[in-house]
Amino acid sequence: MTQHPASATRFAPCGPLTGMVRVPGDKSISHRALMLSALAVGESRITGLLEGEDVLATAAAMKAFGAVILPPDGGGSPSSSAGASGGHADQRGTWTVYGVGVGGLLQPASALDMGNSGTSTRLLMGLVASHAVTATFIGDASLSKRPMGRVIDPLSSMGADISASPGGRLPLMVRGIVPAVPMSYTLPVASAQVKSAILLAGLNTPGVTEVIEPVPTRDHSERMLAGFGADLTVEEVAGTRHIRVRGEAELKPQTIEVPGDPSSAAFPIVAALVTPGSEVTVTNVGMNPTRTGIYRMLEAMGADLSYTNERIVGGEPVADVTARHSTLNAIEVPPEVVPSMVDEFPIFFVAAAMAHGTTRASGLEELRVKESDRLALMAGGLMALGVHIDEGESSIAMTGTGGEPLPGVPANPPLIHAELDHRIAMSFAVAGLNTRGGLSIDDMSPVATSFPGFEDMLRGLAG
Ligand code: S3P
Repeated sequence: MTQHPASATRFAPCGPLTGMVRVPGDKSISHRALMLSALAVGESRITGLLEGEDVLATAAAMKAFGAVILPPDGGGSPSSSAGASGGHADQRGTWTVYGVGVGGLLQPASALDMGNSGTSTRLLMGLVASHAVTATFIGDASLSKRPMGRVIDPLSSMGADISASPGGRLPLMVRGIVPAVPMSYTLPVASAQVKSAILLAGLNTPGVTEVIEPVPTRDHSERMLAGFGADLTVEEVAGTRHIRVRGEAELKPQTIEVPGDPSSAAFPIVAALVTPGSEVTVTNVGMNPTRTGIYRMLEAMGADLSYTNERIVGGEPVADVTARHSTLNAIEVPPEVVPSMVDEFPIFFVAAAMAHGTTRASGLEELRVKESDRLALMAGGLMALGVHIDEGESSIAMTGTGGEPLPGVPANPPLIHAELDHRIAMSFAVAGLNTRGGLSIDDMSPVATSFPGFEDMLRGLAG
């Protein structure tokens, strides 16, 4: 028998999943809501904020830069209003932020601990780059392995002085410059974090800073910057997006309602699709087309998904999504869809592992530099559960069970190492419900970065 650590959590076959849940607020939008509120002059109010560790790292950093950020209870437990399941918008508290104004960031007194959060790190590096402050960024073992060269290069071109650990990694120090130099930058990787870092640097840079995006990535920064009154334009030129922001901006405080995270909603939705007899509704899910690739791909596989109560919340499309158990058939995921489901591949692979036929996807190189090497960890874990997988450098082909539970080794259920990656942990938790003999996950604690209450939600749906 495999020796499982005491901290390991077991996920075993269950009956149908039924019910209605609400997932926490969108992580990408939550980071941006805090950052832009902290840069506006005056009082902004945010409801539906994700109160996960990643977003709390951003909140702590913005406080260190001088903003006043008050959680719903005025300073008590930061997780007291986390509405992981069953909550309603009017029960969630309002965060209040008093910003310092663009150009007004103060010198932080100590290093900024970014925990597990790549988004906090890269976007805040952008902010610091064009302010007269110096900030040191540190993070956990996962974040300290992730490449920062992709933001170091453009921010250095704007004049910031950045010294990083070997390989362009954390810990690193950004010495901002005033005035920074505006530039036009074509993204060499499809990355919303890099795009956003440059746009945020552009906010306090004289003149116009332009990012050219050959492949569209999530556009929350553009939407929210415009909502805060920044002079921002987006132009489509021969299939590429040109995003321009005029610097020395003055942001006006806003009231923001953060929709539910489509990346988090994908876990109960896929769980319902692959578990016989299930029907689950997730309310208030963000449906921004730059984020919904997984839903389009699941539908292409035959998933029974329906969308109701479609509306606009905080400038973003939102719907309630109902998923019923479905017969899924293999597809080929076109590489151009990858950016719109880049965070959803781990849970998408669980769906593919139970589909009929061989699902293929390519253009997956970015999966190797997320919170973990997601291609390797998902392939390894699903192979341990008996799925036939061909893993390429940036591609995968996997032959599903045709709707049967994942075979695994019932006498010796595998122990999955999540390697500090919340989405690996949640994906294998869902997979575990659909195995013959269950599985264990070494450490579920990283789930707190994006989805507080995930396990309770899953067990609640399983009755
Ligand atoms: C994010 C962008 C994506 C995504 C991450 C959040 C953002 O990263 O994977 O979880 O909020 O901008 P990349 O920009 O590296 O693709």
